[in-house]
Amino acid sequence: MLIEIDQLVVSYGRHEVVHGVSLGVGRGEIVALLGPNGVGKTTTLLATCGLLRASSGTVAFDGKIVTTTAPATLVRDGLVLCPQGRELFKSMSVRENLILGGITRNDAEETLERVYHLFPRLRERDRQIAGTLSGGEQQMLAIGRALMAHPRVLLIDEPSTGLAPKIVDFVLELLSSLVPESVEGILLVEQNADAALRIAQRAYLMEAGLIRLTGSAESLSNDDIIRKMYLGTETPGRG
Ligand SMILES: Nc1ncnc2c1ncn2[C@@H]1O[C@H](COP(=O)(O)OP(=O)(O)OP(=O)(O)O)[C@@H](O)[C@H]1O
Ligand SMILES: [Mg+2]
Repeated sequence: MLIEIDQLVVSYGRHEVVHGVSLGVGRGEIVALLGPNGVGKTTTLLATCGLLRASSGTVAFDGKIVTTTAPATLVRDGLVLCPQGRELFKSMSVRENLILGGITRNDAEETLERVYHLFPRLRERDRQIAGTLSGGEQQMLAIGRALMAHPRVLLIDEPSTGLAPKIVDFVLELLSSLVPESVEGILLVEQNADAALRIAQRAYLMEAGLIRLTGSAESLSNDDIIRKMYLGTETPGRG
């Protein structure tokens, strides 16, 4: 396994929000982590890349336990997060954002060319201030910035949020095309289960800090719980 999370527990102060999550991403796989708001998906990703410290459990990256490894070291080793909400440097240009993404490397100029090849829209907007890009372009920039670090594994948190369906398709198709040549595996957090299950081979459904279901993308696409969860039961307590 490229990424193996075992019995991960994560808390904010005394408030435990991830209660023992186990999941894996194999070589060449796109794995989706699905679930409604507030169930602990982002918390799980942040603990995976070292930005939050697990209170127990382990994270292994390519067979090595990295639970307490510093996030900067993990980026250098190829475990890279594309965060929820994109977290761009909004007052800086497209190019500057990308160059910063490659700060751990000495081949930024070369990689920039590769990213511009993947996203011609970004090349056209090379000098534009990131905060003035459209939502779709901002998401492309966030992915491009993550790719600048040469990830072996990309952890990506809700890339489809706020994007028109056509842009969602473009972004997810692009992610899909990265594996396995450019990136060895992707852990994709999404609330848009439909879209995620189109590119993932396997998925996990998270609920209240735990994995509720796991299986092939195909089996989960036809699962009643997933259908229910994404067809109107997202407002618990009503009806
Ligand atoms: N910095 C924080 N301090 C305290 N509690 C937090 C913090 N960040 C998240 N939480 C809480 O932890 C729980 C899980 O949050 P998390 O962001 O991991 O959920 P999520 O599944 O990513 O949700 P969403 O789909 O809305 O992004 C929520 O109850 C949230 O309120
Ligand atoms: Mg989240």
